[in-house]
Amino acid sequence: MSKVTVIGSGNVGATVAECVARKDMVGEVVLIDIKPGLSEGKALDLAQAAPIHLYDTKVTGSTSDYTTTAGSDVCVITSGVPRRPGMSRDDLLSINASIVRSVTESFVAGSPNAIIIVVSNPLDVMAYVAYMASGFPGHRVMGMAGILDTARYRCFLSMELGVSVKDIQALLMGGHGDTMVPLPRYTSVAGIPLTELLDADRINVIIERVKMGGGELVKLMGTSAWYAPGAGAAEMVEAIVKDSKRVLPCAAMLKGEYGYSDLFIGVPVRIGRGGVEHIVEIDLNDEERALMSQSAAHVRANLDALQRIERSQA
Ligand code: LAC
Repeated sequence: MSKVTVIGSGNVGATVAECVARKDMVGEVVLIDIKPGLSEGKALDLAQAAPIHLYDTKVTGSTSDYTTTAGSDVCVITSGVPRRPGMSRDDLLSINASIVRSVTESFVAGSPNAIIIVVSNPLDVMAYVAYMASGFPGHRVMGMAGILDTARYRCFLSMELGVSVKDIQALLMGGHGDTMVPLPRYTSVAGIPLTELLDADRINVIIERVKMGGGELVKLMGTSAWYAPGAGAAEMVEAIVKDSKRVLPCAAMLKGEYGYSDLFIGVPVRIGRGGVEHIVEIDLNDEERALMSQSAAHVRANLDALQRIERSQA
């Protein structure tokens, strides 16, 4: 049975742990956080929910004791500062980079063969930070954003069309930010192309709402979302531990695909026990390629900004 570590026991981390436990598919979930007692408490609460939800997954928690995470197969990194109203994901760059780097280093020492899923923001850059800090090959590090952004897109489309979310298939690429690239040409309802069901203006209104979807929630709640982000990360964990070869939009390390290298950004990938086993390259038209290029430039600019900040602090 697999062992999964969730680093950061805040709202997102606890939701990942709960979703993974409820799927009853791994032997153990370990929660870990720097806040004393938080992981132990949430783990005990989740253990006490097991007789009601009927899962056998063992859930344990620890305060910064990484020996408890040793031998993990998968790790989900959720640590970092969440957004407050008025902040963009990019405002979290420097602080979250140092947190993600330090937790990654602590984790990989005891789990050198694990697969890492990053959820901390700004997502694409944090995936790169975890990749560098882990020393892992690129296919064993990935970022969760596309599943969340696509879920928001599918949710809004279901509201607009009055159809079940179950019948909406959608694809979205690019960075996890306002430059993300929803792809109506690759979106369908039970196989019917979206472009035959909704006019371009309505699609654009929905796309704009998806792009601002995280911010809409920060404005409402004063902090960032956790139910859908947690469920998204758990879906990736499931694809890995079951080796199910799901095709999901994830931030992956590109090595020439779509014309980019040495960059994590959202693309469709096939996920299995080996991590990102394949990057699916679809045809993009000129407009889609231009949007992807803007998005990649934004992620690259953030990476450069982080390097500048860190050089000035060195
Ligand atoms: C969001 C955060 C998790 O999009 O990035 O809600």
